Amino acid sequence: MTILDGKKVSNDIKDEITEQVTKMKARGERVPHLAAIIVGNDGASLTYVGSKVRACERVGFESTLVKMSSTTSEVELLDKIKELNNNSQIDGYIVQLPLPDQIDTQKVLLAVNPDKDVDGFHPTNFGKMALDMTTFIPATPFGILELLDRYGVETSGKHTVVIGRSHIVGRPMSILMGRKGFPGNSTVTLTHSHTKNITQITSQADIIISALGVPNFLKAEMVKDDVVIIDVGITRVADDTKEKGYRITGDVDFVNVSKKASYITPVPGGVGPMTIAMLLKNTLLACERHRKK
Ligand code: GUN
Repeated sequence: MTILDGKKVSNDIKDEITEQVTKMKARGERVPHLAAIIVGNDGASLTYVGSKVRACERVGFESTLVKMSSTTSEVELLDKIKELNNNSQIDGYIVQLPLPDQIDTQKVLLAVNPDKDVDGFHPTNFGKMALDMTTFIPATPFGILELLDRYGVETSGKHTVVIGRSHIVGRPMSILMGRKGFPGNSTVTLTHSHTKNITQITSQADIIISALGVPNFLKAEMVKDDVVIIDVGITRVADDTKEKGYRITGDVDFVNVSKKASYITPVPGGVGPMTIAMLLKNTLLACERHRKK
């Protein structure tokens, strides 16, 4: 069994990006600039956005964090988005999700300039992804592809089962794994809350990508020998033995499933750090594309 070490690979990617930034500086070019908008005080969201900003510092990017109160109106947020769209110093930005109830998420995602949409959530970019066109691939799916690629995990002709159809992970992942090319060329089954007898499906899978958010959902009895496991779950579970009072738990019963798996991602230290590395990669791409325009 091989651990797909997202922490290590993400550090390799960050080193590669740092090298690129050093070269940009040496050529007298402006370095990539990522901005993040966060609305409200959700603890997990603040942690993720904080990690994204720190990662920018680590690779030599400029970063801007825009914090808005939980009572921000849709109009105020759309004004801020307009401002970032028009700011030529900013290459790419993200609006951290979820947003408070008074804000229509679809309206917000549509307002982001697709050229700056380093999350790859705008319908233009999502459509381009589905049509194999050059675009920004959402960071978590992009990170999973990169992890499979760097470990040389065979995906062609394999049966990939995706659990969960979220717009951020499950849906794009199901499209990407079935695309022509590597990693891809998989036969894909997308499962969700209405799927009947999921064990019958997971037990036929060569590769399982679980993005459900239910701790320890996937048990050893549900998978076959030599399965490849990608665990996207990051649920906070109360734990008095931890300083923070919680621990991060994946969708997969790691102790037992890892005994049957050929490759498996740990939680934490698997997909999570890859997401951040690929957001940086998308920002670097955005910067290069702006320069060519
Ligand atoms: N919320 C959970 N994951 C993500 C992500 O990748 N991007 C944004 N913007 N919000 C998220």
